[in-house]
Amino acid sequence: MFKLVKEWLGGNKQASAGLKDIELDKVPAHVAIIMDGNGRWAKQRGLPRVAGHHSGMKNVKKITMAANEIGVKVLTMYAFSTENWKRPKDEVDFLMKLPQEFFPLEIEELIENNVRIQMTGWKEGLPDFTLKAIEGAIERTKNNTGLILNFALNYGGRKEMIAGVQDIIRDVQSGKLRAEDLDESKFSSYMLTADLPDPDLLIRTSGELRLSNFLLWQLAYSELWFTDAYWPEFTESLFLQAIAEYQRRGRRFGGI
Ligand code: FPP
Repeated sequence: MFKLVKEWLGGNKQASAGLKDIELDKVPAHVAIIMDGNGRWAKQRGLPRVAGHHSGMKNVKKITMAANEIGVKVLTMYAFSTENWKRPKDEVDFLMKLPQEFFPLEIEELIENNVRIQMTGWKEGLPDFTLKAIEGAIERTKNNTGLILNFALNYGGRKEMIAGVQDIIRDVQSGKLRAEDLDESKFSSYMLTADLPDPDLLIRTSGELRLSNFLLWQLAYSELWFTDAYWPEFTESLFLQAIAEYQRRGRRFGGI
């Protein structure tokens, strides 16, 4: 327990400084991250865009371990949106191959740390090899009880809400649901994230200040935190800074 914390306190001065600022009993249960800036990170170094995605993939485990260590329960990472299909074919192909590389490389360590893999998004449209990699990881970790590492893959918030509304209409028409019984909690149960709490904190890297169709329903009351750092250079120390700032904010959920 707290192996990383001890390492940070012993070695990584920046991270341990961040750690002193956070209260371990007030850690957000669900953190969602828009991992942006991979392309710009690569361009800055004279590398192809995909090199940025590869470096970004390596960062996923590092931040997962940090989140797990401090007691975050769910970490949702925006890995591929329904709009990302518009990118050049080579880049889409590369992104689709990342799960195939990521899981064989990292699964043992994720299992050792009791991490459970989940996915939010549409399986239809994903290549078989991508699905096989992620479904294999979901199956192997399904009994783990630690942090849920949830990949938003082929996910779009508007599509999710339209699909949810269509399901609601079907259920009302078949008599399974009465229109007057539809409330916020019921609506949430029609979202792809029905079994997860709403994110407490959203982090977006790379200086862009928008939601980009990510968890539109679920982020209604989340705290938003932005950094100029590109995703491949996002560190544990920045993650802890985000948590510390979240803890300093007063969440009122519309009250006073
Ligand atoms: C946005 O940066 C990033 C993505 C569309 C892909 C994010 C995916 C990963 C970091 C890897 C996920 C890992 C697994 C295992 C699925 P961008 O390309 O839009 O950057 P830019 O705005 O600088 O061009």
